[in-house]
Amino acid sequence: MNIIDIINKKRNKLELTREELEYAFNGYIKKEVKDYQMSSLLMAICINDLTDQEVFDLVDIFIKSGDTIDLSSVSGVKVDKHSTGGVGDKTTLIIAPIVASLGIKVPKMSGRGLGYTGGTIDKLESIPGFKVNLTKEEFVKELNDIGMVVCSQTDSLVPLDKEIYTLRDVTATVESIPLIAVSIMSKKIASGADKILIDIKAGKGALVKTEHDAKLLRDLMIRIGNKYNKEVNCIISNMDIPLGICVGNALEVAEAAEILDGRVKNNLYDLSLEIASNMISMGKGISIVAARDEAIEAINSKKAYNKFMEFVSYQKGDIESMVISDKKIEIAATKSGIITFIDAYKVSEVSCKLGSGRLTKDDVIDSTVGVFLNKQVGDSVQVGDIICTIYYNKVKDDFDIAKAFTIQ
Ligand code: URA
Repeated sequence: MNIIDIINKKRNKLELTREELEYAFNGYIKKEVKDYQMSSLLMAICINDLTDQEVFDLVDIFIKSGDTIDLSSVSGVKVDKHSTGGVGDKTTLIIAPIVASLGIKVPKMSGRGLGYTGGTIDKLESIPGFKVNLTKEEFVKELNDIGMVVCSQTDSLVPLDKEIYTLRDVTATVESIPLIAVSIMSKKIASGADKILIDIKAGKGALVKTEHDAKLLRDLMIRIGNKYNKEVNCIISNMDIPLGICVGNALEVAEAAEILDGRVKNNLYDLSLEIASNMISMGKGISIVAARDEAIEAINSKKAYNKFMEFVSYQKGDIESMVISDKKIEIAATKSGIITFIDAYKVSEVSCKLGSGRLTKDDVIDSTVGVFLNKQVGDSVQVGDIICTIYYNKVKDDFDIAKAFTIQ
């Protein structure tokens, strides 16, 4: 067997055997298959897809590349959540405390930014001192102690995904439905929850651009879940416009805290409630309507906010010391009218260029920069009104962000 024949086979749209997938992917982790060869295979997969059998084999190979987490020592139902990634998506920081404050255990391993979409771990790292790397023992202990935990995928959990995810990010292969399904489901199954809720983003600012593809991804992930006896539910949510009003790491943490404090009610609040309600319904076996009431009460009573603060300090974060750059450029409307659209992809592209995301594997993130949307879709503006604010640090440029706004 050799890697060139395997790449050729996929390029020619043929089904790879389990042995061939093992040879390529396990070979990559052993560094016998080179970056450029894996990039080529990933591109062939991106273009020609994988069959269900290839997907099931690959999920299994991914899971077996490392350890799995046994949560049997944690009492109660454990419900995990995952998002396929969107612009301004900080829902994990909001829903995990809501759900955990209601007695459902939330074990969550998160990722870093991928393409132009941000990652929860990058956001949490903008809190000084916050410990994102936990051992398996620390993960289980925190779940037992406070009912929730959000940390970086440990090095020993699906290490293959870590390698492949980073490579996909810089080789234009992030948008493959089977690769997304393998990446998400291998991590979710390995990290041990009983039930899994997946928020599939569809739209301009998402990895998955259309509702049609989102449904294909949903069905594929449910089929993978069935193989492993896991209850998997998916919601499909729109990602044409940014979620909430902040894009950029520290800015987004601050925004999540405001939502939990009950101070802001916007599209981010609505989606967070929808995800939390689904998780509570799965965890408690109650209707979505009853679950939603409980979620609202957790916010209004500050139970969820207090759980968030408990979680941040448990993982040694000092939120008071978090820094948002004090260098800013305010962007004014050049036309009067109603804002009918804010292009999530463009906003995220600007935020990434300011330093909030990675363009190459080794880029270091600047957590202090990003974009604040002073105006939202539906707002009316006059010429000269500030529509958004750019927080910059090293790169002083507005990157023509006004183009992201449609004013009619
Ligand atoms: N989230 C993941 O964990 N993996 C992907 O491939 C995309 C989103």
